[in-house]
Amino acid sequence: MHAAPLERDLTLRAPSLRVRHLHKCFTLGTGSAKHSVPALRGVDFDIEGAGFFAVMGASGSGKSTLLHLLAGLDRVDAGEIEVQGSRVDQMTESELTLYRRRDIGIVFQQFNLLSAMTALENVLLPSALDNAPQPAMRARAVGLLEGFGLGARMQHRPDALSGGEQQRVAIARAMLFSPPILFADEPTGSLDSEHGQRLAQLLRTLAHEQRALVLMVTHEASIAMHCEKVFVLRDGRLAGSFTTEGLDAGELALRAQELGRPAQ
Ligand SMILES: Nc1ncnc2c1ncn2[C@@H]1O[C@H](COP(=O)(O)OP(=O)(O)OP(=O)(O)O)[C@@H](O)[C@H]1O
Ligand SMILES: [Mg+2]
Repeated sequence: MHAAPLERDLTLRAPSLRVRHLHKCFTLGTGSAKHSVPALRGVDFDIEGAGFFAVMGASGSGKSTLLHLLAGLDRVDAGEIEVQGSRVDQMTESELTLYRRRDIGIVFQQFNLLSAMTALENVLLPSALDNAPQPAMRARAVGLLEGFGLGARMQHRPDALSGGEQQRVAIARAMLFSPPILFADEPTGSLDSEHGQRLAQLLRTLAHEQRALVLMVTHEASIAMHCEKVFVLRDGRLAGSFTTEGLDAGELALRAQELGRPAQ
């Protein structure tokens, strides 16, 4: 799964994601106060092929936990995660490190850029960690930044960029190795609504033009509107999913709320 960058078979294959009986509990406290908090209690779903998909659900329903497990940032308690036919839940720590750096992209609500580095250096960071061939990577990073409308901002440090620009740099960094899959946890959460809309449009374009599978957690119906399908979590389980075709933002919000409403 970890062949040389830019020449990988992975990107030629349609992206796929398969999740089975996923369970995750967190243990809190110590001694007699020790107790476990179930975050995921058996999540199953499949996504076949490129596209832009949303995960919605109430606060605490398990959205971030799900994304962290899919991205190999945390270990499952039970269940299976298959990305492009590879079992992420069975990877060793060193396989996970490469998986995170090369095979997928990850974007968070906070942009996580290094403040002492320029936009271009931030985008190139994964290849610097990897000793990847620099000229090809540099050309790719420049191309990504230009494609995201940041051609004139490449030498700016993060504090000289707007929130929307910083998030686009973070997405360019996540796309450096052309991963077929991008995970994003509330990527528009720190942006105003105009920048949020633009970012969602960018992710949609990325999914369609680069044939990537983009899975994004969001609370906002107006952001999820850019996706073709919405998965709704409720109390650590998949409550259901629906396609967004023909729905306006109000209708989408209602569908998500109805599915995500905790049982009385
Ligand atoms: N590191 C942790 N330690 C203990 N409990 C945790 C931890 N991370 C998450 N939880 C618990 O697991 C449950 C799911 O949390 P998670 O962060 O996945 O929710 P979420 O759907 O992303 O919520 P939000 O919309 O507020 O971001 C919550 O009850 C939360 O308190
Ligand atoms: Mg969350």
